[in-house]
Amino acid sequence: MDHECLKRRAAAAAVAEIADGMVLGLGTGSTAAFMITLLGERIKTEGLRVRGIPTSERTALAARAAGIPLTDFAQETAIDLAIDGADQITRDGLDLIKGLGGALLREKIVADAARRLVIMADASKLVETLSGIVPVEVVPFGWEATSRKIEALGGAPRLRSAADGVPYRSDGGNLILDCDFGAVPDPAPLDDALRRLVGVVETGFFLGRADLVLLAEETGVRRLARGE
Ligand code: A5P
Repeated sequence: MDHECLKRRAAAAAVAEIADGMVLGLGTGSTAAFMITLLGERIKTEGLRVRGIPTSERTALAARAAGIPLTDFAQETAIDLAIDGADQITRDGLDLIKGLGGALLREKIVADAARRLVIMADASKLVETLSGIVPVEVVPFGWEATSRKIEALGGAPRLRSAADGVPYRSDGGNLILDCDFGAVPDPAPLDDALRRLVGVVETGFFLGRADLVLLAEETGVRRLARGE
């Protein structure tokens, strides 16, 4: 079974967690795209009444096309269930790196407002230790200075480019520095230090936030729940 089938399988398991009447956080990325399609199908076939807050303009577009009613934080004070993908997931603690899709800030705002965060992924995302690229969203003004501060914390930042070679801009108009920190066995102090830097808007570390990870494998979907 290829990666795409596994992503679809994980997304199907996540969509099965959705109940009638829920306010949803709608994640971003290729796994989330499957989730949007499958949720749209449930709305059509079962008459499920839900409304979703999208974590990116891309997801908002796909959700509208799939017939998912959208809402926002002006209308909703809480999200019942946020469903999103991840780039890395630790077996112990369910800590995450997110943001390779560039939506980390909105994803974190939505995750923060959610009563429950469910992460769907194929099994290749599971790691013992977070490592490699950590996306960090920074304001454009003085990004070079912010980048140097990140270097001083031991990272190797690289300004993310869009396909046309110009600097990538998040939906909020910010830049993303993809920072290589190597293996990060204890990410909390690094996350704190990064978030204290002037110019940093948010990091791709999602620590202690996931309640359930649905991990698609060849043999089925493994459920990794917080605290188990
Ligand atoms: C988007 O900004 C990311 O956080 C995605 O959730 C993450 O990159 C996973 O994406 P895929 O489902 O495409 O692997």
